[in-house]
Amino acid sequence: MLPKIKPQRTEVWKKLNTHYKKIKDVQIRELFAEDPERFNKFSLQLEDILVDYSKNRITHKTLSLLEELALQSELKAAIEAMFTGEAINETEGRAVLHTALRNFSGKPVKADGKNVMPEVQRVLKQMQDFCAKVHSGEWKGYTGKKIRYIVNIGIGGSDLGPYMVTEALKPFWMEGIEPFFVSNVDGTHIAETLKKVNPEETLFLVASKTFTTQETMTNALTAREWFLRSAIEEAHVAKHFAALSTNEKEVVKFGIDKANMFGFWDWVGGRYSLWSAIGLSIALTIGYDHFEQLLRGAHATDLHFRNTPFDKNIPVVMALIGLWYTDFFGTQTEAILPYDQYMHRFAAYFQQGNMESNGKSTDRRGKAVDYATGPVIWGEPGTNGQHAFYQLIHQGTVMIPCDFIAPAISHNPIGDHHTKLLSNFFAQTEALMNGKSKDIVRKELTAAGKSHDEIKALLPFKVFSGNRPTNSILIKKITPYTLGQLIALYEHKIFVQGVIWNIFSFDQWGVELGKQLANAILPELKDNKPVASHDSSTNGLINAFKKMRG
Ligand code: F6P
Repeated sequence: MLPKIKPQRTEVWKKLNTHYKKIKDVQIRELFAEDPERFNKFSLQLEDILVDYSKNRITHKTLSLLEELALQSELKAAIEAMFTGEAINETEGRAVLHTALRNFSGKPVKADGKNVMPEVQRVLKQMQDFCAKVHSGEWKGYTGKKIRYIVNIGIGGSDLGPYMVTEALKPFWMEGIEPFFVSNVDGTHIAETLKKVNPEETLFLVASKTFTTQETMTNALTAREWFLRSAIEEAHVAKHFAALSTNEKEVVKFGIDKANMFGFWDWVGGRYSLWSAIGLSIALTIGYDHFEQLLRGAHATDLHFRNTPFDKNIPVVMALIGLWYTDFFGTQTEAILPYDQYMHRFAAYFQQGNMESNGKSTDRRGKAVDYATGPVIWGEPGTNGQHAFYQLIHQGTVMIPCDFIAPAISHNPIGDHHTKLLSNFFAQTEALMNGKSKDIVRKELTAAGKSHDEIKALLPFKVFSGNRPTNSILIKKITPYTLGQLIALYEHKIFVQGVIWNIFSFDQWGVELGKQLANAILPELKDNKPVASHDSSTNGLINAFKKMRG
């Protein structure tokens, strides 16, 4: 069980409020001027990942108060409760053990009193054997051809993780394998994907924890029909469809052979499932050994998270700084900005990871919270973002804490692309911190030969207030191992914040209402009779839709 401590009732919360009043106008650049060692003191390294959090509106005092908040929230016990398989997902009565999926310690992990590791290892072995068969060509399609296309059909956690990881690790793709991801129930998604593959060489992975998700089942049925239009015989389905799921009954009902099912367990949350059988599309795309490296990277972060004192613990520090802005500065969003084109889905992945986990307003005692919880997560790769939304980050009225992420070594060292990219990576956080004062703008405009009146007119627009906080995460190279480490850092950041906010991070009741109502509306759309069962807006829209479609 997790502690049920209201953050605002901790002794240290008041101290944090008082401290906030003192620090809110302090300039980060002044903190640097005061302490030449600031970078060394406010950065941490985990193997090849350097996390610099010195460009934040924090002092040692801030961090020690925030660490005190973590202690008073009983974070240490909460971390142990998660790793040791306590049913900390209380509203669903489940343990939270994605860490067991990447546990290479050789030590048992128990859920409900049973060691889960033998089952975890069994499925990993099944995945490894399957990858070997597909890659060697021993596994053949119904006309005897090798599998060339992997189509993962899933949504949410059964899509975003594998899609993000396979994109991020494109330089590691196996020759002769191409993955596709179909998630949206919009027929366009499956239709456009099926145009790019052929039934003889395609393996469909139906990825769904519950195996009841409307979008996934609809897309899977469409894929099956499409496949059978060419293959004709039902028996051929076994060569071209596999299921990644916890629900054997539904898998069999759908018509997928039990032998083609890769299982996982209710203690794996959907948005934490890329480490499980849901990662089969990753293993097939980058090879099983690389998939294992991804898991090993995450395991290294798990060890760091579990065993490192809070002041040197990267996910804890990241979480505390995020919470500092959300609850004291009142920020509402955080941007994740990877300076790596391959990582173009990283922010989207953690949009679900973070917002489905911590987008909650009921505390662990079932009471409404009266403080801010999970922020809105968003972002795009740099430098594209610079030419799109950075204007607001630099000069807008809201403060947006940003994480800048970049590899030191590119997989595509063409000319000076990477040094140009990285010069932008460094420049942005510097600019956001330092801003540009009136004096500097005046000097620049004078040097550019502007008249007194022109300078007066232009000056207010060219000033940057600065003092905008950032973290910089510099990674030697994006590899399966370092990516595994990085993902796990963010996962644990989310966990720490959820613990302190006294919310349940591992359920997602907020997605149910919309699903329920869509299920009620679906039969109403079958014919063209006007509906009157909703509010006037919903009725009006449905009836207009019926008229438009004819
Ligand atoms: O969006 C809600 C959700 O339950 C997510 O948490 C989950 O990742 C997704 O739907 C897909 O669920 P499933 O894997 O059961 O199809």
